Amino acid sequence: MESVLITGANRGLGLELQKSFHSGSFITFPVVRTVEAAEQLQKQFPSGCFPIVADLTSDDSIEIIKTNLSRNTDSLDIVINNAGISGSEFLIETVRTEEVNDLFNIHCLGAIRTTQACIQYLRKSDNPRVINISSRLGSLSRMASGEFKNSGFSYSYRMAKAAQNMFTICLGEELMKDNITVCAIHPGQLLTRGRSTDADTDPAIAAENIYKWIRKVDINDTGLFVQPFVQNMPW
Ligand SMILES: NC(=O)c1ccc[n+]([C@@H]2O[C@H](COP(=O)([O-])OP(=O)(O)OC[C@H]3O[C@@H](n4cnc5c(N)ncnc54)[C@H](OP(=O)(O)O)[C@@H]3O)[C@@H](O)[C@H]2O)c1
Repeated sequence: MESVLITGANRGLGLELQKSFHSGSFITFPVVRTVEAAEQLQKQFPSGCFPIVADLTSDDSIEIIKTNLSRNTDSLDIVINNAGISGSEFLIETVRTEEVNDLFNIHCLGAIRTTQACIQYLRKSDNPRVINISSRLGSLSRMASGEFKNSGFSYSYRMAKAAQNMFTICLGEELMKDNITVCAIHPGQLLTRGRSTDADTDPAIAAENIYKWIRKVDINDTGLFVQPFVQNMPW
């Protein structure tokens, strides 16, 4: 059986991904922040689901994830770095460095911590994949084109997703020799709690597309930034 670890899997896109992979008979390791969320997932997915409780803004999460994986598996096929939060401030007068720090910590450092925790397990898979859930707002090219000018998107979110994109490129380059595929995904504008004002997509539909796309990718696709089955994204 194939296996997947999904961060932020108790609601929004993460929960829909959890449902898709569970339906596809994957062993799942949903990473959530609270014991209550873990218990809820265990009830909803009584078999083949091993919730892990970890706050990805802390380095402690690395050992917590490693320990939980070691109890249940020798290898891991897919890591999906999905956990994230929204920002608010879009004017230089009001932008708070604390907010920028908080978003950088989860979107970029959280993805690094999770990948560090999983790397030894990924190395034992036949087709290992690291998928970072990015955003169109992390695309420097699209941002620089003026497409989102005066849209009110926060400094923190756009900067954190751009940093996460650079992590995706660096990691993909490094892990190419180990046959570990690394890609970034824009999931669409989702009708979730972390939605944008132009949200129009059911997260269940986005998750199903992402699920199908991830299942078919391999090392030849490393370095891609895509909205699955919709468009290739410019970095
Ligand atoms: N919504 C969109 O339109 C959209 C568009 C492009 C990209 N994205 C990206 O897609 C991903 C999912 O978005 P979403 O809309 O589904 O968000 P969401 O509904 O707000 O869910 C975010 C998830 O991340 C978890 N999380 C946040 N901080 C965490 C931490 N420190 N440690 C562990 N888990 C943490 C949350 O857990 P709690 O329940 O404990 O808070 C929650 O499960 C994000 O990376 C987002 O940036 C979303």
